[in-house]
Order: sequence, then structure tokens, then C-alpha cells
Amino acid sequence: ATLKDLNTALAFLTTGESALPANLAKPSVGIVCGSGLGGLVNTLRNKVEFSYTAIPGFVNSTVEGHAGKLVFGLLGDNDVPTVCMVGRFHYYEGFALNQTTYPIRLMSLLGVQNLIVTNAAGGLNPAFQIGDVCVIEDHINLPGMTGNNPLIGPNMPEFGPRFPPMSDAYCPRLRRLTYEAAKKLNVPKFLHEGVYVFVSGPSYESKAECRFLRQIGADVVGMSTIPEVVVARHCGIKVLGLSLVTNRAVIHKDARSDPDAAPEVRPFEEKIASHQEVLEAADARAKDLQLLVKYLVEMI
Ligand code: 6GU
Repeated sequence: ATLKDLNTALAFLTTGESALPANLAKPSVGIVCGSGLGGLVNTLRNKVEFSYTAIPGFVNSTVEGHAGKLVFGLLGDNDVPTVCMVGRFHYYEGFALNQTTYPIRLMSLLGVQNLIVTNAAGGLNPAFQIGDVCVIEDHINLPGMTGNNPLIGPNMPEFGPRFPPMSDAYCPRLRRLTYEAAKKLNVPKFLHEGVYVFVSGPSYESKAECRFLRQIGADVVGMSTIPEVVVARHCGIKVLGLSLVTNRAVIHKDARSDPDAAPEVRPFEEKIASHQEVLEAADARAKDLQLLVKYLVEMI
């Protein structure tokens, strides 16, 4: 991801034959649509779409349920110019993190100032129900802390500093506006705030790993988002992260096989995580989440 590649992509989107119309070419809001949440773009008007395969420097996504296009349009009753990623790139697909986050830098060059990143995540906090939304308040970048941070490599000073802080990653104002938007939706107890832990995937967590992640302070777990947040913050973009809880990363007690063990240490739930249940839960809540984001963008 060099500056030259990014400028080529920017020129492709904004000049020449494929150029965006003037009212769409300087989006102020960027949205990353996670698993099953691509329907968010149905709320955009005057849409112009670019397949990821057409954009210089974009890699090709491989996950089912992730279509792979950049959609520009106007969102909300006040016509906010917005750019949406429908489908994102994941580390587990085999890309380097600076490839998965390339679109975020492109958004920065386009003029995006507020980024809404959405994802499907597993609930670790036992109070979170399937279909609830967790407003990300903080994160644990597990791969990032142990040698795989998207900013590793020469710094790009055009975007930001060598050592950007992450203690202020999640914009308090955007989080507050999310609660106000949720009031209009009238779905009580549907919002929580919590800590998102990023893991590389693609295997889901073992039971011991779920207990570990809960113990280190995480409320939800997922395989995306945090690299994008780190790069967006490096660029000075304000960030809101929303996790749709699609399944429970169950905090099992020990699943040990001793029949004489006390009941509380025998397995009580043998449910396993599957991509299918993740997509179904996302579908069920898609409409609410679309409206939530629309109301929110109107208030930004
Ligand atoms: Cl349970 N784990 C991870 N790592 N990612 C998920 C998930 C679980 N559910 C949705 N995405």
C-alpha cells in the first residue's frame, strides 16, 4: 500500500471516464458493512458502485456473504455524502493487514472524517443477547500487541504520526449520538457498550480461549474491525464501532468428562459457533441496524 497506489485509486474514482459526480466525490462519512450487513447500502440514494476488482490496489475478498464493492451515495434525509464498503478484507484470508486496511486510507484521501465500522461478533459478556448491538468503547488488539499491527513498516507521515495513541480511539460524541439514534428505534435494551477483542481467526474460539478472552476484559470477539480502526485513527478520522452480537462465544464451565464431578463443572451447553448462525442473526437485525446508522448519520 504505497501512496502512489492510493493516489492512482483516488484518480480512478474522481477523474476521467469512471469519475464520480461532484456531489458524491467528497464523502464526509465512511461506513464499513460487516457480515450480512451489506443491506445498509439500500438506504443510500444516487448510488454509484465500484467493484473492488476495478479499483487499483484493492485485493479480492473471498468470504461468502461479502460482496465486495465500494458504494457512494447520499444517506439520510439531509443527503450526507457517504461511501460504504460492502464486504471487507480479513487477515484470515491471507492478506497483510496493510492490504486489508488500504480502503481506509483511500477513504481518508477522499475526505472522510467520520468512520462507522460494523461487524458481526461473538458475545462474551453473558448479559449480551443475540441480536443486541455493542457500541465499541475500547479494544484489545491481540495480534497487534504481539507483532501484527497494520502500522508496522515505514510510517506514512502524510497520514499520521509514527506512534499514534489508541486511548481515545472511539469518539465519545459518536457513541452518544448512537444512543440517541437508538431511542428513535424503540428497541429497549438493544444497545450495550463494551470492549472488542480482535483475533485473527478463521477458527472460532475454543472454550478455554473464550474464558481467557472474558478474563482479559473483552465483551465481544471478532475477526475484523480493529486493524481498520487503528489505521483510521492514524489518519485522524473519528471512529464509531458497532458489533452486532450474532452468537454467543459461550463461557462454558470445564467440559471435563468425570461423571463424579460436581454439576457446575460438567458441560451445560454444547452449542458450537457457525457462520450460518452468524448470517441468520445478522439478517434478523439488519433492518434495525440500517435505521440506526441512518439516524446517526443524520445527526453527525
Ligand atoms: Cl464466536 N468468534 C469470532 N472470533 N468471530 C465471530 C464470532 C465468534 N461470531 C461472529 N464473529
